[in-house]
Amino acid sequence: MKKRDRRTYDYYATIRQVSSGLASRFDHNSIFNFIGGVTYEAMGLDRIYLLAAAPGRGYEVVYKRGKRHKDKKTGAKRNDNKESLKIDNRSGIVKFYGKSDDIIIKNELKKGHGAEEIESIKKDLALFEGEVTVPVFVDHKLKLLMVLGGKSSGNMFTREDMDLLRTISLQTAIAVKNAGFYRERVNSERLASIGMMSATFAHEIRNPLTSLKTFAQLMPEKYNDREFRDTFSKIVVGEIEKIDGLISDLLDFSSKKKSTRMNNFDLMELVDEIVDYVKGKLDFEKSGIVIEKKYNGDEINMAGDAGKLKQAFTNIMINGCQAMYGEGTLKVHIKLKDGHADISVEDTGEGIHSEDLSKIFDPFVTTKEMGVGLGLAISKRIIEDHNGKIHVRSRLSKGTVFTVSLPVQNG
Ligand SMILES: Nc1ncnc2c1ncn2[C@@H]1O[C@H](COP(=O)(O)OP(=O)(O)O)[C@@H](O)[C@H]1O
Ligand SMILES: [Mg+2]
Repeated sequence: MKKRDRRTYDYYATIRQVSSGLASRFDHNSIFNFIGGVTYEAMGLDRIYLLAAAPGRGYEVVYKRGKRHKDKKTGAKRNDNKESLKIDNRSGIVKFYGKSDDIIIKNELKKGHGAEEIESIKKDLALFEGEVTVPVFVDHKLKLLMVLGGKSSGNMFTREDMDLLRTISLQTAIAVKNAGFYRERVNSERLASIGMMSATFAHEIRNPLTSLKTFAQLMPEKYNDREFRDTFSKIVVGEIEKIDGLISDLLDFSSKKKSTRMNNFDLMELVDEIVDYVKGKLDFEKSGIVIEKKYNGDEINMAGDAGKLKQAFTNIMINGCQAMYGEGTLKVHIKLKDGHADISVEDTGEGIHSEDLSKIFDPFVTTKEMGVGLGLAISKRIIEDHNGKIHVRSRLSKGTVFTVSLPVQNG
């Protein structure tokens, strides 16, 4: 009981603070800063240094806190900037940790060590005016070295202090290891998505370019062929529109700007127009698809960017048609209630796997050979810019319903 009263810190509270603090830190710098700070404060140190393994360059200071060194002779504050303070792989401390994984306490260095070894460890410690070093091993390699000065109170380190330092070292090792995994994962995911994006764009741009090139090459020899010239000009326009559309999608997607164009329009009329537009597209692409419309009411006043909303609904309807592979019914319903218009687009297509449902709104997610996967990401953004919501329900081989709910002025 007496011992507990003499403690300068609460051992368990410090351990709790360390574990909960480390749980939310995923990069090395933030782990080092946190661990350095907590150890310094909990133990009341006069200084602390954290040195991290720098491949090929020994160990370099990544954190320091506390009083500056004084030059023993002149009393002037020594310049201990990070560059001048490091230890290399041949230094006493690093050699020691090639054989041992325990804490070094300067004043207890006598037992079991050669005079030469002690000398070189002390030389390293002197560099930092260190009293104690705590190693952090990750996969049996010395990753981090904590060099502690004395306590500001002048008290000695206790056995309990050593226990706490060992616990901090183990916790830090786990956090550093996890941070490595996390970084690897984020990097590989980022690489994967950049890879996917470039592959998609390369593919999508090369296709129209290839057909443009083929026609352009044939041009000199077919110049007098009127039919060829007509086809050529149609193809050129069509292919250029594809590339242009792709670039607009990408720009739309990467711009953070909300759509600012506001106009008043009738949502019923707009949806009608979109349905006609989609039908026109289907005429030559798909033949066995019927589009059914069901609207209650006759007018919905809405303020917003009609062009953008058209883009969003067109994508949702075309997706539905593509999922039916040329055969099925697309139902477009508009319901007006409580200041909202619910527009649902229901298809009788292949459906979406439940585990994919949460991903389809992410950019570059596509299951289509010729898809880019930006359609739903952009549609969702447009709808949210209009303070609306988009939901999806789907059953495999039965069909999918997308419901868009938009605030409107009447209703
Ligand atoms: N109505 C639908 N039925 C089945 N799958 C759909 C439907 N709408 C979207 N999806 C799935 O979501 C993916 C992403 O759609 P989208 O973002 O528009 O990109 P893209 O059409 O270029 O593939 C599609 O590739 C498809 O797998
Ligand atoms: Mg699409």
